[in-house]
This record gives sequence, C-alpha cells and structure tokens, in this order.
Amino acid sequence: MGIVTDFAAELPNWRERVSKLLQESSTVKVDEVTIGQVYGGMRGVKGLVTDISYVDPGEGIRFRGYTIPELLEILPKPDDGKMPFVGGLYYLLLIGKVPSDVQALDIENEWKNRSEVPSFVFDVLKSMPRDAHPMMLFSTAILSLQNESVFTRRYQEGMTREQYWEPMLEDSLNLTAKLPSIAAFIYSLKYKSGEYVQPREDLDWGANFAYMVGNPSDEYKDLARLYFILHSDHESGNASAHATHLAASTLSDIYYALSAGLNSLAGPLHGLANQETLRWLLGIYQEFKGVPTKEQLRQFTWERLNSGQVIPGYGHAVLRKPDPRFTAQFEYAQEHMPDDEIFQIAKLVFEVVPQVLIEQGKAKNPAPNVDAISGTLQHHYGVKEFDFYTVMFGVGRALGVSANAIWSRALGQPLERPKSLTTAMLEEIAKKAQQPA
Ligand SMILES: CC(C)(COP(=O)(O)OP(=O)(O)OC[C@H]1O[C@@H](n2cnc3c(N)ncnc32)[C@H](O)[C@@H]1OP(=O)(O)O)[C@@H](O)C(=O)NCCC(=O)NCCS
Repeated sequence: MGIVTDFAAELPNWRERVSKLLQESSTVKVDEVTIGQVYGGMRGVKGLVTDISYVDPGEGIRFRGYTIPELLEILPKPDDGKMPFVGGLYYLLLIGKVPSDVQALDIENEWKNRSEVPSFVFDVLKSMPRDAHPMMLFSTAILSLQNESVFTRRYQEGMTREQYWEPMLEDSLNLTAKLPSIAAFIYSLKYKSGEYVQPREDLDWGANFAYMVGNPSDEYKDLARLYFILHSDHESGNASAHATHLAASTLSDIYYALSAGLNSLAGPLHGLANQETLRWLLGIYQEFKGVPTKEQLRQFTWERLNSGQVIPGYGHAVLRKPDPRFTAQFEYAQEHMPDDEIFQIAKLVFEVVPQVLIEQGKAKNPAPNVDAISGTLQHHYGVKEFDFYTVMFGVGRALGVSANAIWSRALGQPLERPKSLTTAMLEEIAKKAQQPA
C-alpha cells in the first residue's frame, strides 16, 4: 500500500531528529508558566508538539508549512472541481509532502475500499431518541465501531512499540473512510427519509458527502471538499485535538480517542459555535425581516453583549487577526452566492461586530473565526439544519487529529500527565514572589 510505504520512508529521519533533540536538549527551557495561566485554561502555555499544522497568531493556520491559498493551489484536483481532493490533503498531513495525483487518488481509493459501514452502526443510531443531538449520534457511532480496532487486537497479541504506528494508520484509514457515510446517514435519520444512501464509486470522499446529503451539484461538491480541508486541523492545543491526543496518549485506539475529541468539539465555545452563529444570523433576519441597517445591527449586537452572551464566530484563543479559514469561505460565498440574504447579514456582521467588540474592550481578538461564516454557506446549499454543522466540522477534524495520533505513536509520545497544584499552594507561591528579595 503506497501510504504505508511512504510513511515508513519518512519515519527514520523523524525518529532520529526527535531522539537527538531529547538526548542533547531535554533540559532546555521552552516556557515559563504564570498563576494566570494555571488558572486560565493554560492559555498560551507551550506544552505540546505537532508537525502537522501551526497557527501563527497574526497569519493563521499553515498545514505542513502551507497557507490555505497555497494549499488550494497546489493540491491535486478532480476533473469536475476547483477544490482539491480531500485525500490529497490527508496525504500531505500524514507524510508532510505535497502528493502527486496518483498519491492523492491512492488515498481516495483506500477510502473507497474501506467505506462500508457495518449494519450494527445504523442499528445503534436508529435506537437513539428522535431528539438526540447529531453530535451525540456521531460520537456514539464512532465509539460503536471500536471493536473493529486493529491496533487494540494487535496490542493484545503483543506487537513491539516500533510497530504501533502501522495499525494506528490502518485504523485511521478504516475510520475516516466511513465518516462521510456515517455523517450523511445521521443527516438522513434526523431530517430526511431515514434511508441510508450508498456512496457512489465514481465520486471522491468530499463529493460523496455532498451527494449523500442530497446536493450533488458541482458547486456543493467543491464546497464540501473545501469545508473538510479547512476544518481538518488547527495545531494541537485546541480542545478537540487536545482531547483526542490526551485519550490516545493512554494507547487507547483511534475510535475511543476520536470519540473523546468529538465530545469536546460539541461544546458551544468550540465546534458548536458554527450552529450558534447561523442561529444568530437567522435571528437577525427574523428580527429585522431582512438585512438590517448598520446602526440597527450595532444596537442588536450591544443588546446581546449586555445580556451576557458572546457573539458567536468572533474571537479566538490564539488568533489575533481574521481567520484565513473564514476568509477562504467568505471568498467562496462572494463568488458563488453574493445575493444570498443571510450572507449579506454575515457580511454586515463582519463590518459591525469587530468594532463593537473593540469598544467593549474584553475580547483579545475582535475578528471572525472559521465559524462566523461556515453555516451561511451550508444554509445556502440546502443543508439548513444547523444542529448538524458540528458533525461536518467533526468529519473534517478527524483528518488532522488522526494524523497526529499516528505520528504520536510513531514517535513514541508518552502518556500525557501534567501536574496540578492546590489553590493554597498557588497562594503560597504568590506570597513568596511578593516578598522582597
Ligand atoms: C473563542 C473564545 C472561546 C476564545 O476564548 P478566550 O481565549 O477566553 O478569549 P479572550 O481571552 O479574548 O476572552 C476575554 C474576554 O472576552 C470575551 N470574549 C471573547 N470573545 C468574545 C465574543 N465573541 N463575544 C463576546 N465576548 C467575547 C470573553 O468571554 C472573555 O470575557 P470574560 O473576561 O468576561 O470571561 C471566545 O472568543 C468566544 O467565546 N467566542 C465566541 C464563540 C466562538 O466563536 N467559538 C469558536 C471558536 S473557533
């Protein structure tokens, strides 16, 4: 299999680099931690490592060193689309090199061959309450596949540590292959006929999702590819990536680990913000029976802030500029759906909200993040049920976190176990620091 051989070829160099770094420099200081950070969600503490992607506060994400516009330019594309194959992006995340057409299609074919979802997954989903949130269904479906784990079986049989990465890669291909089908089935179960639509042999991973949720137009197929690429990774400290990594650091398999990551993606401060954003935009539309004036929107924004709510889709824990994932989707909307009224509201929000947040003076970053726009595009192309959007986010995010999990295993990253202190201990540390030297 191409991807296994290519991964194996990259590995010796990485193992050597990491081992040299640890042997020669493991006591070199990287960072210092303040009481504010200990009590403040470890914001900004440099305590994780990943080579898959990096978020620069001013520039935004780079995947394996490439910006989003660069990626959209250089990754192989299907004949019927302007957006790259998601399989090519997965190759890049896994191997660190831009794939050829053959290498991108190799991943797409691996996914096709592994895409069949066992029938018990559908039975599990059908047995859930009708009003269950799609994210609970998605996480449960993934967890229910856990007994398929090759890693867990081979671990029990007694493989060596050097071999860990291979079944982890095998599991990750098996799992990611099924995600568009599982997500589309959840969509059908919750909002449509409840029938399972089989993926088509002639469509790639992203396009198949578009087809299975009921919009096989070339524009929506491209948007699906773009969406999954943009949501795939955001370095390792965000909650879904970190939760996946933490769970996997116990040597639990990718099914357990991804389910853990998705459970944290389901919170309103993280992935759920995309559904909250569309809810807010539709609320504006209803309130003003269309697109409001700037002044009306300003006032509406202040009312929301004064009632103690955040403005969904704005602010970020790391970024300090507009998120390039926002910009890529904004440009897509500008090109394909400039007259859509909800998009016009999202545009107006982009003009008004940053200024209001600056005036309020709390948010460190008043600019939009990825969630400020993603739902608007889905809504335009007919996927209007916004409870479902975080599932789509999760389909994309699985690519980055699984690539990270495979590399963690390949490089022997250990169990994650930071140290905690009591408040009394912190008070003591603070007291000592205040005493004159
Ligand atoms: C993303 C987010 C959770 C980052 O949190 P953070 O790192 O703590 O952000 P900050 O350090 O800038 O927060 C400082 C203050 O500004 C507030 N703030 C940040 N973003 C805000 C927003 N969009 N609207 C209103 N207030 C906001 C915070 O709630 C916090 O207030 P507090 O001091 O009363 O607790 C935060 O910006 C937010 O809640 N945004 C809206 C939800 C969202 O879009 N989430 C998706 C993220 S990809």
